[in-house]
Amino acid sequence: MSPLLVTRTLPEDATDAALRADVQVGLTSTPKTLPPKWFYDARGSELFEKITELPEYYPTRAEREILAARAGEIAAASGARTLVELGSGSSEKTRYLLDALTALHTYVAVDVSESALVQAGEAIMAERPGLAVHALIADFTAPLTLPDTPGPRLVAFLGGTIGNLLPAERAAFLTAVRGLLSPGDALLLGTDLVKDEQVLVRAYDDAAGVTAEFNKNVLTVVNRELGADFDPDAFAHMAVWNTGNEWIEMRLRSRTAQTVKIPALGLAVEFAAGEDLRTEVSAKFRREGIGAELAAGGLELTHWWTDPEGRFALSLSTVR
Ligand code: SAH
Ligand code: AVI
Repeated sequence: MSPLLVTRTLPEDATDAALRADVQVGLTSTPKTLPPKWFYDARGSELFEKITELPEYYPTRAEREILAARAGEIAAASGARTLVELGSGSSEKTRYLLDALTALHTYVAVDVSESALVQAGEAIMAERPGLAVHALIADFTAPLTLPDTPGPRLVAFLGGTIGNLLPAERAAFLTAVRGLLSPGDALLLGTDLVKDEQVLVRAYDDAAGVTAEFNKNVLTVVNRELGADFDPDAFAHMAVWNTGNEWIEMRLRSRTAQTVKIPALGLAVEFAAGEDLRTEVSAKFRREGIGAELAAGGLELTHWWTDPEGRFALSLSTVR
């Protein structure tokens, strides 16, 4: 078996520099924020996989139902020879596409989590000896250089991860994805849909506390990488529905007035009692809204599939 092709698109210290910049800017802003990509060290990726199995967290199951029912249609519409998956994580649901895409030559998995990428890539190579597998350690919000592999290309962005980008970031992202596509290529996009507030809040504040641990993991990452002294127990996990923006906000609420030191940045960050640090938005979509965002990025939504309960959608778009 040929070895997994692992490509790091950034120098090793670029991640460190990006984390420093994000922490410096995010923790000196009002309100305080951190970008969600820093959840996903090896522990964070493991915790995300646990989340996908929680009774309250429906998106993974709903998207899997759609893929199980529609992978044949998706494959027929795309005819892809190269599947590129952004934010691939465990690549668990991807197997439906790999099975259905009968002409597939190459699978390119792109993720910031090296541990998740390598584990998933090695498993897929072992299962499918005829398939070329590339693992690309890269930030999908930065310019991407994909390997030169045969077309047509299907770019998959599953899980509803597009909802973790802010509107301006989504616009830039969709325009960049459009730039990766040629006529005949397609984007397969997973979007969680607007629904009852209670269902949404429960999905992000589960009874077993796994999402709370996932949320606090970002503090552990900052402690380890930048020598900070965050006490995760001094913060409460919050999941709040923002009606105007139609997104869930995950926050960490300071239980007391406290000062957190971040020696690598020479920074002392003051938190007031009850002050929130926003760690993630998870936007929920409607067909018209995401169709318009795709169109603004130069993409045309051609197919729309939902699970029978209408909780989650997969859409296929081509270049306009
Ligand atoms: N697609 C999988 C995993 C979703 S979890 C699923 O549907 O279950 C989100 C994944 O995106 C994680 O593996 C995380 O490491 C990755 N990710 C988050 N932000 C990223 C970024 N900016 N660039 C690349 N990968 C990112
Ligand atoms: C990866 N992403 C789509 C997840 C979501 O639902 O927004 C991350 C997550 N955050 C809390 N639970 C899961």
